[in-house]
Amino acid sequence: MHCYPANLYHRKTAPYDKIEFDALYAQSIQDPAGFWAEQSKKLAWFQPWEQVFEGSFEKGDISWFRGGKLNACYNCVDRHVEKHGDEKALLWEGNTPRESSSLSYSELYLAVCQLANALKSRGVTKGDRVCIYMPMIMEAAIAMLACARIGAVHSVVFGGFSSDALANRITDADCKCIITADETERGTKKIPLKKNVDEALKHCCDVHTVIVVNQSQKSTETWNDDRDHDYYTLVSQQPTCCPCEEMDAEDPLFILYTSGSTGKPKGILHTNAGYLLYSMVSFQTVFDYQPGEVYWCTADIGWITGHSYVVYGPLANRATSVIFAGVPNYPDMSRYWQIVDKYQVNIFYTAPTALRTLMAAGDEPVKSTWRTSLRCLGSVGEPINPEVWEWYFHVIGNGHCPIMDTWWQTETGGFLITPIAGITNLKPGSATLPFFGIQPTLVEGELYIEASWPGQMRSIYNDHQRFITTYLSQVKNKYCTGDGAHQDDDGYYWLTGRVDDVIKVSGHRVGSAEVESALVDDHRVAEAAVVSIPHAIKGESIYAFVILKQNQIPTDTLKSALKDQIKKEIGAFAVPEHIQFANDLPKTRSGKIMRRLLRKIANGDDDLGDISTLADPDIIHTLIQNKL
Ligand code: PRX
Repeated sequence: MHCYPANLYHRKTAPYDKIEFDALYAQSIQDPAGFWAEQSKKLAWFQPWEQVFEGSFEKGDISWFRGGKLNACYNCVDRHVEKHGDEKALLWEGNTPRESSSLSYSELYLAVCQLANALKSRGVTKGDRVCIYMPMIMEAAIAMLACARIGAVHSVVFGGFSSDALANRITDADCKCIITADETERGTKKIPLKKNVDEALKHCCDVHTVIVVNQSQKSTETWNDDRDHDYYTLVSQQPTCCPCEEMDAEDPLFILYTSGSTGKPKGILHTNAGYLLYSMVSFQTVFDYQPGEVYWCTADIGWITGHSYVVYGPLANRATSVIFAGVPNYPDMSRYWQIVDKYQVNIFYTAPTALRTLMAAGDEPVKSTWRTSLRCLGSVGEPINPEVWEWYFHVIGNGHCPIMDTWWQTETGGFLITPIAGITNLKPGSATLPFFGIQPTLVEGELYIEASWPGQMRSIYNDHQRFITTYLSQVKNKYCTGDGAHQDDDGYYWLTGRVDDVIKVSGHRVGSAEVESALVDDHRVAEAAVVSIPHAIKGESIYAFVILKQNQIPTDTLKSALKDQIKKEIGAFAVPEHIQFANDLPKTRSGKIMRRLLRKIANGDDDLGDISTLADPDIIHTLIQNKL
């Protein structure tokens, strides 16, 4: 295995060398309170904290920086304005190369204050939940910050979710206010966000305010004068000053829904101080971010990467963060690299699935661009295949940009296992070593984390017991990641994917149970089981086994209807690659579906292992014969 050296670029100011870094890591493990106390000086506090950490995994009561008061928006915006107000906070690039704009820190401050006042004028106060269902426009970041400013808890829902999925999330978090846009274009596709909101709100009667960024300047037919407000009309009437709410360190900052192994998505809850500090420190350390550099993370704001590493982490560090509304292959395959050249991007962070799409198109579209501004690259969301890593390194990075393969989760708030730019030697395909304060441990091939870290989730909204049961009770006093991993002789970690029923389709997290429940919602379906199969571009894709009710005929039309049902209940990204109709599923004598076998069948693996516990082994042969 080829190993690449850490020091691939000249570091303008090196805060530490490898030996000093290792000493710091050791301190972060031996004396976490001392370590994080020192780090906490990087935040601006309205009132100092009293206790760095307290709590226990057993009860799931985790608290960092108790007694401290601060505001996340103040830390991301206000404190930079006085001396650095003219520096760019956000650079926006639209779906086509013709559309672009930017906001300096001073401009961002005004935009956030006015929206915060607009929210207040609609009766939104501290602790209220606000749903953000938006495209990749600067107003999405402004909306998150405006909520943080007044202490409202944002719940961003990815624009690719359907109206049904949106309605469930609005209801679960009991949101009374939604910020959205009329529609968005990604590549050649149009996504009717406002129409989806209208549809969702047929089921959520408590929503009193919908604020709409009207991008296409078309008034929607379903405009409701009592409820709907044009974003810019509302905002332009507001005062440009809005004081920051003083938040307790442990007050909630946001909820972000993610999939687990049941049909009901989990509202992952993050709080103010720990989350912000962790995203801030991890962003700066891992990418070795230097003032003045331009940073671009391609993740959508609807996922945790968009929260921690498009908005909070970069802005807390006074970085310039690029927001891109389009897709990698529109208008052509050079789009990403043209943007890198246009904005002279220094740090570029993306997902393996995007890289695989681009790699499949060959080197030509890359070679037509310069990419000489790049210093550091990043990868996130799923394991990166070593071949793709090598291509990213040699072709995109011209062989001189280290790749930060960052392993983490919605639940962890920020990077847990990751290289450090300039410090960690790299092995293609390995996320390498733990970040400050993180003690991984392997239990029967599964990855656990020994002790709390500031960015750790604090609860599942409305279901604290599920938080304890899912994450903190599998192995006593350890956080359960749900990922498989192994460690090599150098101590490097190699993440191998989920060990539970969560599937990563193009890096998007989909629960098997959610897809199954959408399938059985069709009156013709008796039972369904969903597993993952490898996919050359998406990493994983979904393979569904469907049993129809008696007298139902398996047809292609029915298959299409089932796909539409999933689009309706979840979103297009969760639609299975294959649907195989079956007469029966392999079950144990107690009636439990043996997914392990279904996974093997879907993957064409003949070595089925022990099938003696099956109630009816003949089922297997029929399933294999009919495999798609
Ligand atoms: O399986 C791991 C995979 O993504 C899961 C978390 O998904 P989500 O909460 O949507 O967050 C994605 C962005 C952080 C993990 O349990 N994963 C994430 N990053 C990597 C990864 N698998 C391997 N290598 C990574 N770098």
